[in-house]
Amino acid sequence: MPTRTMRRAFGLTILNSQHNDVRKLKREGNVPEIHGNKFWNSSFLIMDYLRKHPPGKQTRVLEIGCGWGLLGLYCAKTFGCSVHGIDADENVLPYLELHAEANGVTMTSEQKTFEALNTRYLSRFDLIVGADICFWDEMTGVLFNLIGRARRAGVKQVMIADPCRPPFNDLVEKTRTRFDDVTVVDSHLKRPVNASGEILIVEL
Ligand SMILES: C[S@@+](CC[C@H](N)C(=O)[O-])C[C@H]1O[C@@H](n2cnc3c(N)ncnc32)[C@H](O)[C@@H]1O
Repeated sequence: MPTRTMRRAFGLTILNSQHNDVRKLKREGNVPEIHGNKFWNSSFLIMDYLRKHPPGKQTRVLEIGCGWGLLGLYCAKTFGCSVHGIDADENVLPYLELHAEANGVTMTSEQKTFEALNTRYLSRFDLIVGADICFWDEMTGVLFNLIGRARRAGVKQVMIADPCRPPFNDLVEKTRTRFDDVTVVDSHLKRPVNASGEILIVEL
């Protein structure tokens, strides 16, 4: 049941910063430093898209800049995919674990930056997803290069969602110039929250 500190959306239990277990993690010193202090809404845009275009159970998913990991947990819980999450900030990972437990689902995770994901590493995955991860100017080039490495690694598809911050819009434009199969999905949700933005989908 939803409460003041917890809600249900897309079949997931999502705790907020007032939840006792979240507060406990923070008290224990897990203080996210790169905006991973909460769950961000663009993940819902990709969840909504995937609900209509479900990946197969065998799809190996990598969530980049995973934060609390709800998007990856959605793929594991709803489609039975194996999911791994990476984030530059190790302080977010306990919150991912907490949500994995709250949702009775497993997802592996580790501290790693976008820049450190080489082709060998990426070759273990079919689908890369990321939400609200292109918010600083320098992230445009970093993510553009990552998509290039993903193509060389044999990854099939990359999906990145954002409320259209300028660095994300630049990433969309850059991606269109380099990759043949680029789709941008305009997405507006009224539920579970008012959220809108775009999903950049690159078929590799
Ligand atoms: C705005 S939060 C979004 C978190 C999560 N995707 C969500 O939707 O709730 C951005 C996340 O990207 C991570 N991040 C920022 N720069 C990164 C980098 N260079 N490599 C990997 N993760 C990074 C941050 O630590 C943070 O968890």
